[in-house]
Amino acid sequence: MPIHLRAESGDYAPNVLCPGDPRRATYIAETFFDEGWRCVNDERGLLGYTGTFEGRPISVQTTGMGCPSSGIVFEELVMLGARRLVRVGTCGGLLDEMRMGDTVIGISATAEDETPLRLAQMDSYAPTATFTLAETAAGLAREHGGAAVHVGPILTSGVFYDPDPNTFARWKRAGHVAVEMEAAMMYTVAAVHRIESLAMMTVSDILGEDGATERISDDELKRGVDDMMLIACRAAVS
Ligand code: HPA
Repeated sequence: MPIHLRAESGDYAPNVLCPGDPRRATYIAETFFDEGWRCVNDERGLLGYTGTFEGRPISVQTTGMGCPSSGIVFEELVMLGARRLVRVGTCGGLLDEMRMGDTVIGISATAEDETPLRLAQMDSYAPTATFTLAETAAGLAREHGGAAVHVGPILTSGVFYDPDPNTFARWKRAGHVAVEMEAAMMYTVAAVHRIESLAMMTVSDILGEDGATERISDDELKRGVDDMMLIACRAAVS
């Protein structure tokens, strides 16, 4: 039994949805899982649930925020038998054409944080999604026709409150479409353990060139998350 996920092998399904927020984990189980799901972890408030989605086994596990916290959870999920991790979170949008509630699929995640490199044991490294999963999710999103979907490189930042107001403009110049704080860690854990992973995020704020932030309303966020979750659940069990 791992230290932070107090569960046994078999308590989690091989396919695991990974939100940062424990309340989101509960919402996902309540709203998207079939009847009969159960709690498999509550250690440190890192709520985890296992059940089925459209009849297929699935779990959802809270990761907390940032690479160090989420890295512990991703590693322990692998110890417990996870074979596919699908991050379902929020992100700051960097593109002019992005709207609140849009979905982002991160095909790669640049780490502005040492933790993924430390795990990769490399001086440089490109954390990357599993292509077939990204392809499946993008296809499902096109079919679904809900929120607009943006597929591209994202930034995994180590600081939410960046003292430099120009950081986002520089990452945007380098082709990045969104900023979040966990995907690079998940891609690195998945790579070293030879499992699959994909990060999908709802745009919860739009980041201006000058560091200004515009934040989503609760209603817009719920609509965006619901659109993304259906696609994430289908991709996770595909
Ligand atoms: N920065 C980092 N992570 C985030 C953001 C952001 O602006 N929005 C949602 N997750």
